[in-house]
Amino acid sequence: MKKISLKGKNILVTGAAGFIGAHLVMRLLKEEEACIIGLDNLNDYYDVSLKKHRLELIAETAAVSASEWIFEEGSISDREKLHAVFEKYDPAVIVNLAAQAGVRYSIDHPDPYIDTNINGFYYILEECRRAKTEGKSFEYLVYASSSSIYGDNMNIPYRVEDAAEHPVSLYAATKKSNELMAHAYSKLYGLAVTGLRFFTVYGPAGRPDMAYFGFTNKLIEGKTIDIFNYGNCKRDFTYVDDVTEGVSLVMKKAPEEHEGQPAYALYNIGNSSPVDLMEFIEILGEELIKAGVLPEDFDMKAHERLLPMQKGDVPVTYADTSALERDYGYKPSTDLRTGLSEFAAWYKRYYFK
Ligand SMILES: NC(=O)c1ccc[n+]([C@@H]2O[C@H](COP(=O)([O-])OP(=O)(O)OC[C@H]3O[C@@H](n4cnc5c(N)ncnc54)[C@H](O)[C@@H]3O)[C@@H](O)[C@H]2O)c1
Repeated sequence: MKKISLKGKNILVTGAAGFIGAHLVMRLLKEEEACIIGLDNLNDYYDVSLKKHRLELIAETAAVSASEWIFEEGSISDREKLHAVFEKYDPAVIVNLAAQAGVRYSIDHPDPYIDTNINGFYYILEECRRAKTEGKSFEYLVYASSSSIYGDNMNIPYRVEDAAEHPVSLYAATKKSNELMAHAYSKLYGLAVTGLRFFTVYGPAGRPDMAYFGFTNKLIEGKTIDIFNYGNCKRDFTYVDDVTEGVSLVMKKAPEEHEGQPAYALYNIGNSSPVDLMEFIEILGEELIKAGVLPEDFDMKAHERLLPMQKGDVPVTYADTSALERDYGYKPSTDLRTGLSEFAAWYKRYYFK
């Protein structure tokens, strides 16, 4: 594998106002001496003020950082804009996190998945190819895939070597397509590329469309939360700081061509200890009470409604992270209670100002 020094380089992070993107940018600003360029279209898939809040948190971190921070508002599926960003900043390392996320939303709203995850990702690959062929600074592309690509795969834990050819949502199909497109570009044009399959990421300033956040919003309004598949569901919940630590390690060591194989790699980034959804909800409730988000005498059970499985969902996600451990010596390890207590504390600060 090839070491990549980030020092003094231009690093482009797309989806920088997003949940994982903002946490990654803050980590890079704290730990590296580089110029971080964030690109995000600040779309209204969920509350835009949360994206602006994350940009404020980034600006606070940047103010005391040895690195530079530049934000560009724009879409990766706007080919001219993306080209202009590559021309202006000539990034050496690109981390593509911009995507239309969400499994369930893709069932009724397919368009943005094709616009961003397919067309936008293709434009990213094209810009990397052009930069490489023109001898510009390009060194390495890292991009987000998802555990949802494992779809109907029943072999657990999910291993990157497993054939995952049966996605059960358009979202998953777009992410799987990204992996195939990136592989082809790596093989054809010699691009160094790594794809990272994230597993249910949670934490402070997270995504309101995800279960733990949506549950919290409903519970404080005294509403009932819907628990699908009657709660018979296990998720490999991964704390956001563990994910960004993994991403930052991956950014600093790239795959190389080897015996006819392209400089292409794929890893799972998950906690590799799936938790029962009911246990997750119990700990979430306890931590919300501890943080003062819910009253001390709050009765969680009285606010739960058990329902059948939803389309697009899978009963278990479970990451085998041995490839990441082998190549980067890293394994996510934050326990659920610690992570959820950080989420609850942030929620209290942000919504109870
Ligand atoms: N959070 C998870 O549990 C999880 C799990 C698996 C994979 N992922 C992947 O990780 C990446 C980051 O996810 P996240 O949870 O931070 O989601 P997020 O929605 O919070 O972040 C994505 C960001 O990309 C931006 N964006 C969307 N379309 C864009 C476009 N066309 N051009 C520019 N910016 C655009 C959005 O405004 C948003 O700020 C995504 O690729 C997602 O698919 C996330």
